[in-house]
Amino acid sequence: MKLFLDTASLDEIREAHRWGVLRGITTNPTLISKENQDFLPLVKEICSIVEGDVSVETASDDTDTLIKQGHEIVQIADNAIVKIALTSNGLAAVRALSDEGIRVNVTLVFSPAQAILAAEAGAYIVSPFLGRLDDIATDSLRVLSDICEIYAIQGYDTQVLAASLRHPMHVVEAARMGADIATMPFKVFEALVKHPLTDAGFKRFLDDWEEAKPRLGELLPSMQEG
Ligand code: E4P
Repeated sequence: MKLFLDTASLDEIREAHRWGVLRGITTNPTLISKENQDFLPLVKEICSIVEGDVSVETASDDTDTLIKQGHEIVQIADNAIVKIALTSNGLAAVRALSDEGIRVNVTLVFSPAQAILAAEAGAYIVSPFLGRLDDIATDSLRVLSDICEIYAIQGYDTQVLAASLRHPMHVVEAARMGADIATMPFKVFEALVKHPLTDAGFKRFLDDWEEAKPRLGELLPSMQEG
């Protein structure tokens, strides 16, 4: 399962990229608005940092306008892909853009029925939102596993991107259910790394090493410096 960051923050993207496990970015109008930066240079910079797909969201519910925005988004960079909300006008735009070979991430998906529509419209990615379903007391993991199961049975090529993830177990469960991609805020990405036993064990190893170092004779050159 590929790990994506759900952010438009350049600092967060650079830091996660440094870890070597970041495979792409999802943005949306809310995330872009938080950065208080000019839209186009910001998106270009994001696309230059990561090698993988960067979802850039359209902002219209008119099919022709969505198609125009899609054409412009893919001109931004080779890895810029178009994000369109699942409305009926949106589906028509997904169909038209997909028929041209343009990659579309269908977003704001909350049910297996909507996910079937996205795949039938030729979506490159479908994005079911887990956290927002949990917020209204709906079993988001059941929705995600139904979508993964249906896509496997039907042989759809559309990738399933688990979105609106709020904590590490969302990520773990998405992987277990067979999602192709998980996108998450930076704080969830960081939480994946952390384990108290890792922190305690690492501190103990470093302390023991420092204490033993004077008695260990010849060391590797880099160990002498550290
Ligand atoms: C995904 O592409 C969306 O940008 C995102 O995951 C929405 O998450 P939220 O519910 O935390 O806003």
